[in-house]
Amino acid sequence: MPRTKVTDSTPTKASRSALSSEVIHSFQVRLPVWYEKNKRDLPWRHTRDPYAIALSEFMLQQTQVVTATPYYQRWLKLFPTWRKLAEAPIESVLKAWEGLGYYQRARNLHKLAQAVAASPSGELPSTAEALLELPGIGPYTSRAIASFAFGESVGVLDGNVIRVLTRVFALTGNVADRAVQQQLWSLVEQLTPSRGADTYNQAIMEIGALVCLPRKPACLICPFNAVCLGKSDPERYPVKERTVTKVVVEKIAVIENKKRWWCVQSAASRRLAEFWRFPDLDERTMISGQELIRFKYTITNHRIELTALHAIWKKMPPSASGRWLTNEEIESLPFPAAHRKIARQLAE
Ligand code: ADE
Repeated sequence: MPRTKVTDSTPTKASRSALSSEVIHSFQVRLPVWYEKNKRDLPWRHTRDPYAIALSEFMLQQTQVVTATPYYQRWLKLFPTWRKLAEAPIESVLKAWEGLGYYQRARNLHKLAQAVAASPSGELPSTAEALLELPGIGPYTSRAIASFAFGESVGVLDGNVIRVLTRVFALTGNVADRAVQQQLWSLVEQLTPSRGADTYNQAIMEIGALVCLPRKPACLICPFNAVCLGKSDPERYPVKERTVTKVVVEKIAVIENKKRWWCVQSAASRRLAEFWRFPDLDERTMISGQELIRFKYTITNHRIELTALHAIWKKMPPSASGRWLTNEEIESLPFPAAHRKIARQLAE
């Protein structure tokens, strides 16, 4: 589900080798024709509102379309404009994002809304170059917004596009390497048409999402079939460095008092700041009892083995900062997905 973060590299000038007219034709003619026949009907493809487009791009950075779509629609009802989002408290913003993960995206979008609302025009700038200066907007997002919302002729490079390009051009280098990134950006620049970059960008991402799949790509129906150099062994591409996964054991304390649960708020400095959660088990101040729930989940490069246990205070420390929350209060506050799962099990 979470995609490799590949969008932080910056396009730089790179050497160009001429592409054949058949290759250019496949990208600029066959691909858009395929797209018009096969594209999914996605809500952000019906709007030119820069706010809605920026929202979709923030959500889609690490989340699949099926998951993001209902969030996108709900969000636009809750926060229909930059101003409404800028004025909303961070807790309600995080609550609306709850379940999508990678909450830094929601914080960044909130910061972006505040920057836009405070700017003289109250609107987003319309070029990728100017967008790149704003909080939370990197090379991919600046170009996606500039092309989809403002029609600027700039290409994009995300995980899907990387998969398509590394296969069509049989790029065997590690995609994290600077030289390969430069090659990829050079291809993006050469292949993106000067008119219709918005459709082209949607189309190349769409072929990556529907045909040029990570596993078992549908090469026989692909508009690049005639020119693809990687089609004999497509799963070989893109070449990625293996990332090491660290195992983390987490013990969570579930302390009850008259149908309320002891919960704490993550410190502002911690990864999930402003989120509420059950506390970590602290053997110095708590006595643990029956195991309630055990499950594993993955966040970025961490495999987390979580166990939630009933616990009681030995003696509640006077310095303990937290609140006794009812099930209803827990439902209304932002909770990380793992802690929400514990809460729902307790409420049953
Ligand atoms: N992934 C990133 N941006 C997207 C978009 N606009 N449509 C579909 N998938 C995407």
